[in-house]
Amino acid sequence: MSNTEEVPDVLRAEGIVKQFGSVVALRGVSMHLKKGEVLGIVGDNGAGKSTLMKILTGFHKPTEGKLYLEGEEIELKSVSHAQSLGIQAVYQDLALANDMTVYENMFLNKEITHKFPRFLNKREMKKKTRQYLEDIGVNIPSIDEPIARLSGGQRQAIAVARAVYSANTKILLLDEPLAAMGAKEATMIMDLIQRLREDGEISIIMVDHNYAHIFGICDRVNLIQHGEITYDKPTAETSMEELTDLVVEEYRRARAS
Ligand SMILES: Nc1ncnc2c1ncn2[C@@H]1O[C@H](COP(=O)(O)OP(=O)(O)O)[C@@H](O)[C@H]1O
Ligand SMILES: [Mg+2]
Repeated sequence: MSNTEEVPDVLRAEGIVKQFGSVVALRGVSMHLKKGEVLGIVGDNGAGKSTLMKILTGFHKPTEGKLYLEGEEIELKSVSHAQSLGIQAVYQDLALANDMTVYENMFLNKEITHKFPRFLNKREMKKKTRQYLEDIGVNIPSIDEPIARLSGGQRQAIAVARAVYSANTKILLLDEPLAAMGAKEATMIMDLIQRLREDGEISIIMVDHNYAHIFGICDRVNLIQHGEITYDKPTAETSMEELTDLVVEEYRRARAS
């Protein structure tokens, strides 16, 4: 994608505060996502990354703050409300049904049926599943296999494909999509995100601990420290060393205080 300033924000958060009882998980987060961009979010354990993602997916309501989708203020009432607006998430603990097949998972809760009588149109679902996986560049030997037989990377790829090919997906939120994955599987998902980035139709936020992943596929990176975004730069204008130094400084301050 181009990095020109004229690219509009598809999503914007302003002053997001989230409290869980006495715990303040987010202390006024403002951030934005441009159309077609891949934004990386990094930060220590407990910094508030997942909480921010869950607010953007409609899972948590913010205690304070505002969200804007394509410039219009929105109030996300639920995850399905966010989905209906084109915001899709893939979580670490995937919502796939292990004993069902690849194609059944792809169309779980959005099955294709014949017009009349309304039996499941398996042929059409299988055909579309093959097409989606091919488009996305993922090789799954048999879509009639139960999901349980597949590797973690293949399952993750199906979850991403499902989100990408849901009706009107505009924004894809990935919370540590490569966690607990081998190098080969992680590469498969990275390639997939890279292809989506090249297409430029879907805007993506990816939370990841691993700076190599962030620098491999993100256009821009935000650092969250103790519930605040403390850093926001295009990846081309920063480095792993610069980010590492910031985090080392955070530890040093924490120890001194
Ligand atoms: N549902 C919850 N109830 C209470 N505290 C929570 C909840 N979710 C997250 N927190 C707290 O909010 C802070 C941020 O957590 P989280 O967003 O999961 O961090 P990260 O994803 O960056 O590791 C932590 O202190 C965590 O314990
Ligand atoms: Mg997390």
